[in-house]
Amino acid sequence: MIPGLAEDSEFDLETRIAILLCKLLTTLRNSIGEKEIAMKEKGSVFSGSRNRRSFLKSGMVAAGAATIGTAMSPGSPVAFAGQEDDHAPITKGDIAILTFLSALEQVEADLWIQYAELGGASNQGLSPIDLPFKMGLAPNYITGLMVLDGDMPQYISDNTDDEISHHRFLNNYLQSKGAKTIDLTSQFAILPPSQVTGVPQNGRLTNLKQLTVDTSWWTRYRSSTKTPDFGGTFENAIPDLAKGQHPAIPLNDGDLVLDNNGNISNHLQAIANTAGFHFAFIEQGGSSLYPALAQKVTNLEVLRILLSIGGSEIAHFQTWQDKAGNATNITDGDLTFPDLNSGVDPNTGATGADTADEFQTNLIMPEPTLFLNEKLGPVSIIRPTSTKQGGAVASVQSFVDDGLFLDPATNKNTGIVQVLFGLAEEADAVRRRF
Ligand SMILES: [Fe+2]
Ligand SMILES: [Fe+2]
Repeated sequence: MIPGLAEDSEFDLETRIAILLCKLLTTLRNSIGEKEIAMKEKGSVFSGSRNRRSFLKSGMVAAGAATIGTAMSPGSPVAFAGQEDDHAPITKGDIAILTFLSALEQVEADLWIQYAELGGASNQGLSPIDLPFKMGLAPNYITGLMVLDGDMPQYISDNTDDEISHHRFLNNYLQSKGAKTIDLTSQFAILPPSQVTGVPQNGRLTNLKQLTVDTSWWTRYRSSTKTPDFGGTFENAIPDLAKGQHPAIPLNDGDLVLDNNGNISNHLQAIANTAGFHFAFIEQGGSSLYPALAQKVTNLEVLRILLSIGGSEIAHFQTWQDKAGNATNITDGDLTFPDLNSGVDPNTGATGADTADEFQTNLIMPEPTLFLNEKLGPVSIIRPTSTKQGGAVASVQSFVDDGLFLDPATNKNTGIVQVLFGLAEEADAVRRRF
């Protein structure tokens, strides 16, 4: 007899079946909550007898969960040892998302390593240096960066450390689940780094020497009336950075030469300012990517990974957008960093309170804006979080548009772009399985 049917014998068979189905669905939802508690207690998927007993507290629960677990995942979950009791198993889709993220984190790590080599901390006070390579090789570049904040070298080193840890952790996790890890360096680390003295001349995945930096995240996070997920478009904070190609690192020792007064040249300050805005551009991408992909994962532990690493990206973004606002109002050739506190729109020349709201540097908290349905009222949120605007393909496209993969020898992108788009399409195609 199916547990649960007999107790409701005052109802006819159809009603009893309907009641049973309702109970089974409730049980499935409850089992997910119980699973999370069990994971907290055991640190992983539960296998202990105490948790198993508490989970199997009624025969109906066991029958319902097992039935639905089988029905909802026909051939799709990747079978991993120890997961036979997991009713939201790690699916092939979860693995596709983790694989893509690991690849993109390796790209992030690569670019941050280049920043740290030149502008990272060479003296971290009493805190030991975490990274296994020489940092802070361009002291005058560091002086330019420190105009944005005295702690910039430390923040650069720490952001680098974080990205390396993201890639390494994701690969370790994939490996622990019997999935393939990803390493793009053997094939695609071919781009030349800075020529500044001391920088290791091994090939890199990314090119920081000719960037076209989108700074529309600045006004996107200050808008109270528009959101990218509703098709909103946003002005750049630094219009000149969004066109042409600009270095975010000194290309060689010549870029580090001081001006006639012994001060940082406008050229070098512009490179440092570009880096400051590029840091925020990169990290706002991660801030949107993780919540966009989190909506597609099935397994709770994988969801926890995405939420937790995603939070780290948001912490980075928030730091960098605060620092970018300290960039000095200078011009170097065709690149001007406008005074964003002047009340003048650097794109249109418009003035007024609305303009001030869009550009003022200390408005760094995410302004409440539209979300889901405008009838719900404005709310302070990460934006975008839709697949179209903030998903995997959108993130890769934004990196491509940024010029990160441009090979100066050919003026074309390296082959990494095709690989990243392939992984991204697989990640975006994933659907949550319940
Ligand atoms: Fe990251
Ligand atoms: Fe990041």
